[in-house]
Amino acid sequence: MIHLISIFFILLLLNHSTTSTTTTISQLFKEAPQFYNSPKCPSPTTHDSNVHVAMTLDATYIRGSMAAILSVLQHSACPENIVFHFVTSSSSNSSLLHATITNSFPYLNSNVYRFEDSLVSGLISTSIRAALDCPLNYARSYLANILPPHVNKVVYLDSDLVLVDDIAKLAATPLGDSILAAPEYCNANFSFYFTPTFWSSPSLSSTFSNRKPCYFNTGVMVINLDKWRAGEYTTKIEEWMELQKRMRIYELGSLPPFLLVFAGKIAPVNHRWNQHGLGGDNYRGLCRDLHPGPVSLLHWSGKSKPWVRLDAERPCPLDALWAPYDLLKPLFTFDT
Ligand SMILES: *[C@@H]1O[C@H](CO)[C@@H](O)[C@H](O)[C@H]1NC(C)=O
Ligand SMILES: *[C@@H]1O[C@H](CO)[C@@H](O)[C@H](O)[C@H]1NC(C)=O
Repeated sequence: MIHLISIFFILLLLNHSTTSTTTTISQLFKEAPQFYNSPKCPSPTTHDSNVHVAMTLDATYIRGSMAAILSVLQHSACPENIVFHFVTSSSSNSSLLHATITNSFPYLNSNVYRFEDSLVSGLISTSIRAALDCPLNYARSYLANILPPHVNKVVYLDSDLVLVDDIAKLAATPLGDSILAAPEYCNANFSFYFTPTFWSSPSLSSTFSNRKPCYFNTGVMVINLDKWRAGEYTTKIEEWMELQKRMRIYELGSLPPFLLVFAGKIAPVNHRWNQHGLGGDNYRGLCRDLHPGPVSLLHWSGKSKPWVRLDAERPCPLDALWAPYDLLKPLFTFDT
């Protein structure tokens, strides 16, 4: 097996706009092996058969992003047909982040785009978890504008997940007339995501009449970008965010506007494609187990992340499934 030939020392310097302190992160990443198409794959130049994947990149989560990318490539029958679209914050060093990725994945077909923080900074109201308030968390609402017009469908992925199945199957989800597809959770208490102010206002809560709204997680979505653009869904999401600035209708960050616009109207995806919540309980950080059923994607959404717990030598049992995708080279081990 071709293994970890090159070692790159990456010094990430970023200006944290919120605190105006300079954060220095030094991380050493291994080079991933090269992945090849199987003989049955269409040529990567047959653009119609390409799978487009969108992810955000920032210094805090780059180790998670690397693991996610590696997992996507490793389980794909046609890895050369996957195009990655990375979105970075305008306040970060975009070329440095992209270079960090391409150093570990020299053969990756990828593009990087800068997301203008000011597009949403005026629309964000503080949520119960500070981590959800960063502008880049809202970039998923702007993919239709950020990605080039020829990209008509995209799989959006968070950075705290790994796939253990072929992403082409997820990308092939039939969307029908829906704008997006994601696993739905109709047993979750949907009322919980909105405030009593919202539910007690007939003019607001009637937005859910004539549909059966169910919770879905916005960390894994298949989006028809053509239909999104035509229906101006970014504007629809922004309108709810503007309302939230005037009256508190929800508590979490970027999720509720998605629920307001799309819940009950999405195309379903098998739950195996988002085994979420593995980051643990939002308040106490307890370990979570898998939901019953098969697994194609493990998602460490929630308070903690597997790399944090592994570094602290206090991992949850399922963190052992993330570890094989970790490209971080431990410091001070310069073996070849
Ligand atoms: C971004 O990082 C690169 C590589 O380290 C560096 O050369 C460049 O000056 C940085 N740009 C900014 C705006 O800090
Ligand atoms: C659902 O959540 C709402 C708001 O948090 C709560 O008032 C209600 O009792 C919950 N319903 C169930 C069935 O748990």
